[in-house]
Amino acid sequence: MGIVLKSERELAKMREAGLIVRAVLDAVEAACVPGVSTAELNAIAERELRRAKASSAFLGYAPGGAPPYPAVLCTSVNAVVVHGIPDRRQVLREGDVVGIDFACYKDGYCADAARTVAVGIVSAPARALISATQECLERAIRACVPGARLGDVGAAIQGHAEELGYSIVREFVGHGIGRAMHEPPSVPNHGREGSGLRLRPGMVLAIEPMLNVGGADVRVLHDGWTVVTADASLSAHVEHTVAVTDDGPRVLTAA
Ligand code: MF3
Ligand code: CO
Repeated sequence: MGIVLKSERELAKMREAGLIVRAVLDAVEAACVPGVSTAELNAIAERELRRAKASSAFLGYAPGGAPPYPAVLCTSVNAVVVHGIPDRRQVLREGDVVGIDFACYKDGYCADAARTVAVGIVSAPARALISATQECLERAIRACVPGARLGDVGAAIQGHAEELGYSIVREFVGHGIGRAMHEPPSVPNHGREGSGLRLRPGMVLAIEPMLNVGGADVRVLHDGWTVVTADASLSAHVEHTVAVTDDGPRVLTAA
């Protein structure tokens, strides 16, 4: 299937899902303190999901032969890039950097977002990485205007990340989103300005830069999900669901 443009009515539904995603991430972020386990963070996400009468986009998700994802939240600590599985034995400690990623369906439409959170006081390099990753996302969002191209979005991320000396993960990318969590097109975190698909009003993209302090290479652990940096360097990931509209970018998972 090709790219599905969304009507204003559909964008309104995706906004409902986006507000739930935001509320869940707010609750989880507030709980990212030393001593909490990543399984407890997942339990908080489950509780908020129930409260909102929404359904998880992650639980049981099994793309292309992967084992079904066993939780509603991804918790990616330090050298884990994305898709970390919550675990009762994994307890957050002061100085950790934790990515929290959540998506849900409400009334048939999906929204998807992620943040990277500092646990207590973290090192200056960790703080800088988190800020840079957020800046990359903000720049990418600003590029989401009708007439621009997908390469402009990737270039905005790549240009800023590389200027600051970070590397970009290539194996995992952002995506179109709507009735399904993953729709075309793929949204790479690198690219060339002026190249690629032309953005049109009604396109909705989940943009999710992943930046590493060290090299770009990653590997997947034997659980089939956890993505780690090959050199064990620190990594950060943030994501928003963004609609391209005639009035400019509309971030469906933000305040
Ligand atoms: N936000 C991620 C993505 O867009 C998380 C999906 S992995 C899952 O691909 F298994 F948890 F669903
Ligand atoms: Co996503």
